[in-house]
Amino acid sequence: MDLGAATALLHDPGTYTSGIPYAVLAELRREHGIVRVAEPALPGWPAGPGYWLVLRHTDVRTVLADPATFSSALGGTQIRDPEGEEDLRYVRAMMLNMDPPEHTRLRRLLHASFTPRAVRALDERVRGHAGAIVDAMLAGPAEVDFAKGVSADLPLFVLADLLGMPAEDRWLMFDWANRVIGWQDPDYAVSASFDAGAGSAYAADALALRPPPGPDGRLPDPRSREGMPDLYRYAHLLGAAKREAPGDDIMSILMSSRDDGPEGIGGGVSLEEFENLFWLFAVAGNETLRNGIPGGMVALLANPDAQRALRADPSRIPVAVEEMLRWWTPVMTFRRTATRDVEIAGQPIAAGDKVVVSFASANRDESVYDDPDVFDIDRYAVRPPPKAHLAFGYGPHVCLGANLARVQMTAMLTQVLTRTSWIEAVGEPAWLRSNFQRGVKRLPIRWRV
Ligand code: HEM
Repeated sequence: MDLGAATALLHDPGTYTSGIPYAVLAELRREHGIVRVAEPALPGWPAGPGYWLVLRHTDVRTVLADPATFSSALGGTQIRDPEGEEDLRYVRAMMLNMDPPEHTRLRRLLHASFTPRAVRALDERVRGHAGAIVDAMLAGPAEVDFAKGVSADLPLFVLADLLGMPAEDRWLMFDWANRVIGWQDPDYAVSASFDAGAGSAYAADALALRPPPGPDGRLPDPRSREGMPDLYRYAHLLGAAKREAPGDDIMSILMSSRDDGPEGIGGGVSLEEFENLFWLFAVAGNETLRNGIPGGMVALLANPDAQRALRADPSRIPVAVEEMLRWWTPVMTFRRTATRDVEIAGQPIAAGDKVVVSFASANRDESVYDDPDVFDIDRYAVRPPPKAHLAFGYGPHVCLGANLARVQMTAMLTQVLTRTSWIEAVGEPAWLRSNFQRGVKRLPIRWRV
């Protein structure tokens, strides 16, 4: 295989509208383990210096476990570089793009806020929301878009509960996440699904600041503070209200906590920190599941025996969800920057180089998983189970919402599978144009009872 053509294919966001090129990943993973990818200018994506793409399970873990060598803060965690110092400063205000000790402090505060009581209450509400969403599905036409028409609402409801925001404002988060994640896909860049007439006073106030599209029809770059003034306004109003009158949601618990950890940074969460956490949760906890839940359904549509087995014994669903996460891998890549000269898989990497880990490749690594392309709902049922998949990352930044994501996927699939007799595909699905998220824009299905 021509290495230049193969890596150009992997970089191009357009490639993923027809699926992940797994055969290309497999060959590069076996032969090289790590490859150099050029970053030529593409539509909506300026030319960049290029990056190393890490393909093997073991090397992905090594990179993610070592923030002192592979920094999240130095250049952020997205492949595309922030445009200039000010945008870099802006993304660094989010914990996703921090290194220890700043990251450790926020992470500890958040951990402490997910109290067992709050988590139990949230899980209970997840099951209630999933039930109500499937009630609505069964009251509607038998042919439905399982992505936007069914799955998208669950993470929005759950985030509204977690963040303590009025449920009627939840589709604002759908639009914000589209603007951020959908920057690579023209269909999502100017998303406006929120019904302004139905929102709260905060929503009306925030919407007045929504920027108009520019001459190219796009909204400003969402990775700058000016790009998301409506989100920041909303977060500010919500955070200030929580300071005044805390609720029993996780963000209210967070806002009233203090950290006196060994790093000596200490203190509580400032309103500005809350605004940035709101941004992160509204995006990270939303798009990922909106793609993860339909991704699980894609696996069942392609594997009727698995659908039959889970219908016969729904207690197997939580273990099957683990395999869905490995097989689908909703987040395909994340980025770090080398802080010093180092080697990965025998390849010298220079200080300052971009290092991108491929979860999509690591989760199909044949040295870790037998028949890695096969979707096997019993893969994680054997004892001892195979190595954990990396769909939620690894190391200090491992997904903070992983358990909540598992609870949501399990709740939704349990409702759908126990309340219908069969689900089949009708018509063509549509995949997101992105080299970051493995997005499902449309998944037409027909259900039967
Ligand atoms: C299937 C669904 C999900 C997937 C595949 C996923 C994936 C990931 C991955 C790969 C990371 C690591 C980023 C890195 O190493 O730089 C991450 C971090 C994060 N995720 Fe998730 N996520 C999911 C759902 C959620 C949910 C439901 C929430 C919130 C309720 C959430 C909140 C976060 C946060 C706050 C971080 C940053 C953690 C940190 O920087 O320490 N995620 N996620």
